[in-house]
Amino acid sequence: MLHLKNIYKCFAKGTSYEIEALRGINLHIPEGNFVTIIGSNGAGKSTLLNIIAGTILPDKGEITINQQDLTNKAEYYRARFIGRVFQNPLLGTAPSMTIEENLALSIKRFGRGLHLGLNNERRELFRNKLVQLELGLEHMLTKKVALLSGGQRQALTILMATMFDPKLLLLDEHTASLDPESSKKIQLITQEIVKEKKLTTIMVTHNMQEALRYGNRTIMMDRGRIILDISGKKRESVTIDYLLKQFSKLRKEEYIEDELVLA
Ligand SMILES: Nc1ncnc2c1ncn2[C@@H]1O[C@H](COP(=O)(O)OP(=O)(O)OP(=O)(O)O)[C@@H](O)[C@H]1O
Ligand SMILES: [Mg+2]
Repeated sequence: MLHLKNIYKCFAKGTSYEIEALRGINLHIPEGNFVTIIGSNGAGKSTLLNIIAGTILPDKGEITINQQDLTNKAEYYRARFIGRVFQNPLLGTAPSMTIEENLALSIKRFGRGLHLGLNNERRELFRNKLVQLELGLEHMLTKKVALLSGGQRQALTILMATMFDPKLLLLDEHTASLDPESSKKIQLITQEIVKEKKLTTIMVTHNMQEALRYGNRTIMMDRGRIILDISGKKRESVTIDYLLKQFSKLRKEEYIEDELVLA
């Protein structure tokens, strides 16, 4: 499904702020996999998702989805088959537009309609989708999105990102800015949709429990590299304590050879 080959990304090259955000990322995610990604602040997690979505282009390397080379394809082109939910509920929806207008926009984005037309058939479709969220949003089709709570907005964004079964769903700490109750609810909605649609998913989280509980594979990043990649029996036996130990090991070592952590 998704192949990343030897991806490099450096910001502010040649200045004193130069930072190598990604340093030779190789990753293959087969169809239907649900990968959780953990790593300290600045490890390169969001940069990796941005590179996959086409928000930024890599300096080097290759990105393919189902053998199609996307390396230099624009973000809007990839948006037709990549769904995305950010940490900030203010991203992902248009605040000055109503719920139904936002949903119509996602139809356009996924290339399923050429205009923002709203007819009764579409409204019925939107209501049916919104009912599944169990947040009562189906009664608020003409409400401006700016008036919704962060949790309601994230739920709407998830719905929009997954409505047309994207090939790939990218979640970047999408519950991190919500209160505990909303966070739980949004995570539940996410898991239900991913399971129902069998979506290939990458979810970045700082929550170790979530990283191990959800999905079938966990990747740890540090300073632009993948330093741990676990699935199957190995992952089942891994504890939060083990992951935390990996983090403290990283803090202690000035320079870490990949093999040290992968061992
Ligand atoms: N547009 C940019 N311009 C310059 N530097 C950037 C840019 N985007 C990211 N960086 C830098 O690249 C590094 C990786 O950032 P990134 O946002 O990918 O980290 P992250 O793992 O998502 O961290 P966090 O857990 O804090 O979200 C950081 O040092 C960051 O400051
Ligand atoms: Mg980030």
